[in-house]
Amino acid sequence: MKVPIIFLGVGNIGGTLLRQIVERGEEVARRTGLVLTPIALADVSGVLLDPDGLPEETLRAALDAIAGGGLLESTGAVRPLDEVNQALRPGAIVADMTATPKTMPTLLAAMETDCGIVLANKIPLATDWNTARAFFEYPNLRHECTVGAGLPVIDTLHYLLDTGDRITKIEGCLSGTLGYLCTELERGMPYSSAIAYARALGYAEPDPRSDLSGKDVMRKALILARTVGWPLEEADLSVESLFPESMANISAKEFMTLARTLDDAYTARVDAAKENGKVLRYVARVGPESSSVGLQEVAYDSPLGALRGPANYISLHTERYNKTPLTISGPGAGPEVTAAGVMGDIIKLASS
Ligand SMILES: NC(=O)c1ccc[n+]([C@@H]2O[C@H](COP(=O)([O-])OP(=O)(O)OC[C@H]3O[C@@H](n4cnc5c(N)ncnc54)[C@H](OP(=O)(O)O)[C@@H]3O)[C@@H](O)[C@H]2O)c1
Repeated sequence: MKVPIIFLGVGNIGGTLLRQIVERGEEVARRTGLVLTPIALADVSGVLLDPDGLPEETLRAALDAIAGGGLLESTGAVRPLDEVNQALRPGAIVADMTATPKTMPTLLAAMETDCGIVLANKIPLATDWNTARAFFEYPNLRHECTVGAGLPVIDTLHYLLDTGDRITKIEGCLSGTLGYLCTELERGMPYSSAIAYARALGYAEPDPRSDLSGKDVMRKALILARTVGWPLEEADLSVESLFPESMANISAKEFMTLARTLDDAYTARVDAAKENGKVLRYVARVGPESSSVGLQEVAYDSPLGALRGPANYISLHTERYNKTPLTISGPGAGPEVTAAGVMGDIIKLASS
């Protein structure tokens, strides 16, 4: 069966998914009977469209453009981005692999058209509940990669809920970037150097404040809560930012220079934790009434304390898993595992 796919975003994740489909599509079809067929590829420069499936040479030209750091417009065949909605039709699957709220009108139109929707983009699910609710209630939507990248976190939550279990709380480390930062601080590296390394290694964005603000983890916590059925709002979460408000509105370059002024404060926090036999981790705690994300002192030999580098760890406390929580751990970022997670969601939607 042919599965038409509309790509919103062909950056790290969208570009990797496209390559996986070009390289492994036949293998996937042999195993699943599903022929994953890109019918639209969109980035900010425009959209490549073919309702019958974009020809392989177009897909390869798009891959070359992406690999060279270019935009789809360099393939010479793009149409204006607002024409992407022309690709919507019942049974097509829209994969949102952007990091912008600007895709919301297309996602809303996709629901009207009975398309499947797969989100790696957290924003539609983490916006105010009044708006986000429609996405959570849409039956043909999957969003495994919004928390823990390719790790089966959302699927496991659905399995627990579908079998009548009751979630009591969720805890974990949900950010590869902040996991890396905490490990390096623990090893004695100053805050500013750890951030510089995180950028150089590709764990952090060029402007690392998008991770350091805690906002990305806050969105994941909100998505976990709402998936369980706790319709929390952003205001219900306390969020610790790892830089002061005074550094929020300066350029990324200035921030990297001023970050040195925070070195001593973070070294002191690490030392204080050490004196208590503990280590610092950036922890999300999600409950029915309220949630928090921020630095916590945890025992060195606890599962969170034992985490190293960018690994994620999520523990699901439930009525049935009440003595020992159900835990999921592994890489919580990376284009290959995340794109594969999006493909897994596409396959599950198409199979159902
Ligand atoms: N990277 C990871 O390991 C990871 C893991 C889990 C989840 N995610 C989530 O996956 C999403 C994508 O991440 P990424 O690393 O692939 O980001 P990225 O490399 O910045 O790619 C984003 C893509 O979206 C495109 N885009 C922006 N606005 C658009 C619009 N209005 N319509 C269509 N396309 C638009 C961008 O186009 P231009 O290039 O032309 O600007 C780019 O192709 C994010 O929401 C991220 O949080 C990422």
